[in-house]
Amino acid sequence: MEIVINSKNNKYNIIFEKAILGHLKDYLNVLEKTLIIYDENIDNVKLNNIVRQFPEVFTYKVKAGESSKSIETFTQILDYLVNKKFSRSDTIIALGGGVIGDLTGFTASVFKRGCKLVMIPTTTMSMMDSAVGSKNALNFSNIKNVVGSFYAPDLVLIDPEVLDSLPRRHYINGMFEALKMGLLLDKKLFNFFEEGIYSKNILEVIERSILAKKKIVEKDEKDFGIRHILNFGHTLGHGIESSYHLDKLLHGESIAIGLIYMIEDKELQNKVKNIIIRMGLDVDTLIANIDKNMLLTYLQNDKKAKNGKIEAVFLENMNKYHIRQVTAEELVDLLGK
Ligand SMILES: NC(=O)c1ccc[n+]([C@@H]2O[C@H](COP(=O)([O-])OP(=O)(O)OC[C@H]3O[C@@H](n4cnc5c(N)ncnc54)[C@H](O)[C@@H]3O)[C@@H](O)[C@H]2O)c1
Repeated sequence: MEIVINSKNNKYNIIFEKAILGHLKDYLNVLEKTLIIYDENIDNVKLNNIVRQFPEVFTYKVKAGESSKSIETFTQILDYLVNKKFSRSDTIIALGGGVIGDLTGFTASVFKRGCKLVMIPTTTMSMMDSAVGSKNALNFSNIKNVVGSFYAPDLVLIDPEVLDSLPRRHYINGMFEALKMGLLLDKKLFNFFEEGIYSKNILEVIERSILAKKKIVEKDEKDFGIRHILNFGHTLGHGIESSYHLDKLLHGESIAIGLIYMIEDKELQNKVKNIIIRMGLDVDTLIANIDKNMLLTYLQNDKKAKNGKIEAVFLENMNKYHIRQVTAEELVDLLGK
């Protein structure tokens, strides 16, 4: 299957198919000098199956986790590229989740003013969200994603078979972004979650999530307008993630809780809450344990807050959203007393 992303400045293909990684030469020029950046959780069998298809290939392993989205790792990779005499017509491949995608995408965007970039996402989060839409970022000075670029890949290759080794918690974490897309833009996608058949239909869930994001990023790649709706659940979710000190909840899990409380229709809100509980999150306990004062402080200091108000995306009902400016207190009150 193939989806073309065609925005004002960029056009690239996303190809997804089971076992696609076994025959890369059908999709990219394996004779080009290539660097594969991956993290320690990509197993050697998967890596070697890819590596053996290139006559000349270099590999660069980084530590798994958010700490690799750093200026230090970025400069170490630059050092490596310079030492190995890479040029701008050579290719860098991101083989990994959103962390590897963001780190590699940012590096490719600035190395020699931009070299070829291929994304091979290996988590549900990166397949359905981060590999689409051209955003790349590094963390700096304890601030997430504060350094970044818009830089489109030349190609995205998705092989759902790589998800076999992904820990269940990370698998579900990315699924929450697909649930968000369904609520915002695609009722049929939502139905897979309502009926609990999202894993059985993984190819269609990936396809529909990408198509939903495509619709938005093609209109507003640089995030000046309509792309803001993709922040549905994020403002409250980021606050919840921070009030849990960023180490108890994964990003997608925090967003899932955020989503629930941004839904205005009570029937739909309950339905979504139950879906999220069935997906494995103990919503009531997580909400009960939030330190509301701390949450309020985080929201008041949200980097997007202006004149005491924060932009928040509300869902009136299925696929019916609007954006409103609210105070941090109003957001905290949504969680109930
Ligand atoms: N640029 C964007 O548009 C965008 C969008 C959403 C998220 N993000 C970023 O993505 C990151 C989160 O991405 P993520 O959820 O993929 O996290 P991640 O990249 O940290 O991967 C999650 C975990 O799974 C491991 N892993 C990856 N693939 C595996 C596989 N196939 N088998 C076994 N283990 C595997 C990783 O080593 C890691 O431990 C965050 O930094 C976030 O800011 C970016």
